[in-house]
Amino acid sequence: MDSFGRLAPYYDELMSVVPYRMWVGYFLLLLSQLDVRPRSILDVCCGTGTMCEMLHQEGFEMTGIDLSPHMIEVARQKAARKGYPIRYETMDACTFELGRTFGAALSFFDSLNNILDPERFLQALRRVHAHLEPGGAFVFDLNTAYAFEQRLFDQRNLRPSARLRYDWVGDYDPQTRVITVHMTFWKDGEEFREVHRQRAYTDDEVRSMLEEAGFVDVRGYTSYTLDPIRRKSDRVHYAAVKPF
Ligand SMILES: C[S@@+](CC[C@H](N)C(=O)[O-])C[C@H]1O[C@@H](n2cnc3c(N)ncnc32)[C@H](O)[C@@H]1O
Repeated sequence: MDSFGRLAPYYDELMSVVPYRMWVGYFLLLLSQLDVRPRSILDVCCGTGTMCEMLHQEGFEMTGIDLSPHMIEVARQKAARKGYPIRYETMDACTFELGRTFGAALSFFDSLNNILDPERFLQALRRVHAHLEPGGAFVFDLNTAYAFEQRLFDQRNLRPSARLRYDWVGDYDPQTRVITVHMTFWKDGEEFREVHRQRAYTDDEVRSMLEEAGFVDVRGYTSYTLDPIRRKSDRVHYAAVKPF
């Protein structure tokens, strides 16, 4: 595994500036826009489980799946330490089967951009749809091609005082809309590398795949607002409903 493997134990440290609490509020706002009031929620590509934990604290029954056993291991350890009854499974978003349904699902932090093949992206939407109760909703975010063009992933923190130093360089191919990000990290004097790849999907592609997967009432927003998607939106959120 060349992504979310070596990085897993340091992921939360790297994300310490991410406003997860605000994201939880935004997720709940988008659900309320659709009049969806779940009891159980599935986090698709849950990573180390930060959103699952916050939603558990809000009173929801949480399940998280992620492709990386290393990320799931961290999530399980965190939940065990806190005594949170959250179910975590190592599963691929494109093929998962949990044998039950949920009132809502989410996938945040451009996780679905990691699915490079549009056929597999559609499969993931179908799997989420199959795991929703009728009337349930799926909310997810995506990086856009504009973000990749703006070199979103060219980031570094090389301050000697930083506990985790990193240097990332993105190589974007506008033909395939795939960005390859070469990441180097330094932790406690040790260097390790990961390569992450993401594909940008157009608004038209996402909407038609959501509809093909069986979703209705599809809404797209410029992230963290209720504004429509614009040409210069670097991150977008979608919310869609499984009909009764
Ligand atoms: C940027 S992290 C986001 C994690 C978490 N949602 C968060 O907000 O912190 C992207 C996650 O997507 C997971 N992922 C990538 N492709 C996946 C797939 N096909 N199925 C399930 N998880 C996947 C990675 O293992 C990683 O944990």
